[in-house]
Formats: sequence, C-alpha cells, structure tokens
Amino acid sequence: MANDQHDTPAPQQQQTHVWHADNVTRDADVIARAAELLRLGELVAFPTETVYGLGADATNAAAVAGIFAAKGRPFSDPLIVHIADAADVVRVARTVPPIAEQLIERFWPGPLTLVLPRANGISPLVAAGGDTIGVRMPAHPVARALIRVAGVPVAAPSANRFMHTSPTTAAHVLADLNGRIAAVLDGGPCAVGVESTVLDLTSDPPRLLRPGGIALEALHELLPEVALPVAAPDASTTAAQPARAPGQMERHYAPHARLIVFDGGGDTALAAMVAEIAAGIAAGEHVGALATDEEVTTLKAAGAQVVALGQSGNLDMIASQLYGALRTLDDTGVRRIVAHTFGATGLGLALNDRLQRAAGGHVTPLPTV
Ligand code: TXA
Ligand code: MG
Repeated sequence: MANDQHDTPAPQQQQTHVWHADNVTRDADVIARAAELLRLGELVAFPTETVYGLGADATNAAAVAGIFAAKGRPFSDPLIVHIADAADVVRVARTVPPIAEQLIERFWPGPLTLVLPRANGISPLVAAGGDTIGVRMPAHPVARALIRVAGVPVAAPSANRFMHTSPTTAAHVLADLNGRIAAVLDGGPCAVGVESTVLDLTSDPPRLLRPGGIALEALHELLPEVALPVAAPDASTTAAQPARAPGQMERHYAPHARLIVFDGGGDTALAAMVAEIAAGIAAGEHVGALATDEEVTTLKAAGAQVVALGQSGNLDMIASQLYGALRTLDDTGVRRIVAHTFGATGLGLALNDRLQRAAGGHVTPLPTV
C-alpha cells in the first residue's frame, strides 16, 4: 500500500536479493552474507515464527531510518529490537526487573515482546524518541542465527508497507518491498502467523499493548494482573507525541478490499456472511470470504470467492493462514471480504484484534436472535 503522505523520503531503488535459508547449518553461507549486509547498514528481511521482519542494525541510526523509508512508516511508530540470546537483553534495556526475568525464562525464545527502559546504545529512532524499548528473542532459528552472526541487536518491524497486511512468506515481503531492501532470507511460511504479544513492563500493573502469539491466559500464570490495551487512537498520531502502541491504530494490517467482520460465530455469523455476500453481488461486486473449513461449502454456494483458514476449533491453524488469506483474496480482485471473529480466549484475542484493525476498526454486531 503506497503511503507517501508520511514524513519519510522514498528509498533508492536497488536489487533485492532473495536467498533461500531454512536450515542454519546448510544455509550458513547466505546467513553470513545477510548478516554482513546488516553490519554495513543495509536492510534485510528475515523469517520469524510470527511474521517476516524487516531488519536493520539497531545501533545504526541511518540504517534504522532506512526501515521507515522502505516501509513508508511514520517516525512516531517505534520498532521492536530482536536479540539472539536472552542475556543480550541488557544491551537493549537499561534495567531488567525481576518480573521481566521470569517472563523471559518462561516465554523466550518466542512471540512475546517486552517494553522496558531503553539502553543508551540503541538508536532513539528505534523507540520513536521515547525512553522505552520493545525487545524480543524470536523462536525462529534462522532469525537467531542471522542476529547472532551480525553481532548487533536488530530492529525489525513486520516487513510490509505501512498499514498493509503483515507478510508470512518471502513472496509477501517481495510484493511490498522488492527494490526497496537489500535482501530477503526465504525460510518458508511463518508458523504462528500473527505478531508477538507486546507487554509494557514500564507501567504498573503491566499493560498488554497488543495481543499476539502468547495468550493473555499464559501471561496470567506469572502476572495475576495485566491491564488491557487503552482505547485505540486513530492513524493521525503526531510525530511530536510518540505513539504509546501504534499497532493500536484503527486501520492497520489491512487488505485493499473492504473487510466486513461479524462479531461472533456459529449459524448466526454464517447467515450474516451469506446475506452480506448477496448484498455485495447485488451491488455488482466480486465478494471474498474468510471461512473455517466447515463454512466453505455454504459460502461458495452463496457466490463468494472463498479461502479456507482451517477447522473452526483450530485457532493455531487459523492464525497461521489469516494474513496469507487476505492477500490471496486481494489478488483475486475482490472488492469486499466478509469474515467473522473467533472468540476472546487464546489466540482468538489476537485474531479479533487483527481482523478489527484490518476492517478499519469496526466489527459488525450480529443480530440477536
Ligand atoms: O512478531 C512481531 O512482533 C513482529 C516480528 C517481525 O518480530 N514485529 C512486529 O513489529 O510486529 P511492528 O513494528 O510491525 O509492530 C511493533 C509494535 C508497534 O507498532 C508498537 O505497537 C509496539 O510494537 N512497540 C514497539 N516498541 C514499543 C515501545 N517502546 N513502546 C510501546 N509499544 C511499542
Ligand atoms: Mg507491523
């Protein structure tokens, strides 16, 4: 999604190398080349267990500025720093409270980002000028090998153009960033498929800033009290005031088609989707649908272009397929996409958040029966 209204200059065109890397031993040579590019201040996209990240040396302000230019991302939106070893958290964070150590012990490597006081060696640009920093240790071996060989903490947002759907394959990265970055390591599809959970440990009680790959219920095992995200600001967050959690912007993770999300499941949601498909077709539109396996037949019969996400009870599978499905439907040229939410427990919370933001902040209540 082009986004030229923001305060970042367009990057120079360059050739983007695509290197296959899904095995850290067999692919050690390309991982070393990619790490060398990072050390030189270039941008390299790489697989993580959540989504592909767009990496730059977090200690190099010019390299970090390049991330914002390549994505068309406003400087007010802070980046997550990725480390290869839990002990490196002290290179990124000024202080690491005991609760952070417990969370690290329990959830790293994995999809949990901790917001902590920022250490001096990290470019303030990474933190959008604020004095906190988001840090995580990814579970993907290729990500960790790249960071370890580069020898620096790696700032990396999701490797998509600003506000577009996050990438879960190297092809998605290229669709958004080909010619704007030095290289992408192709490690195949991402296993989790939605971004990390972001937890702010600088507020008391700790606050969930973004639901993600680690469920709130799992955090509760160590943290009885977790504050929930504050109401979402709109996309016009100003550069003067660093956004507290810009992932909270109302329109984010969005396909090009208009997404209509019904809040709930079961027969009522299915009936509402069928009615919405009929309305779209009556308006002359080509309509797409995100479906559980059980819903495919009905939604196809209603005339929609359908992409199946997985069985209705399998939220792991549904999360891993969501972003790819939105891109697939966009590629078919649909104007309208219908979907429903997936409950508020486990990964359901992250799925609902992403669907709602992809729909511009709005979910449609179901008629009560
Ligand atoms: O799974 C992930 O987290 C992926 C992979 C690549 O690691 N990264 C990712 O980054 O989703 P990004 O930039 O698309 O989203 C990062 C979000 C920001 O939008 C913001 O909500 C939050 O993390 N964040 C980062 N640093 C923060 C800080 N210092 N204070 C508050 N929120 C922060
Ligand atoms: Mg993102």
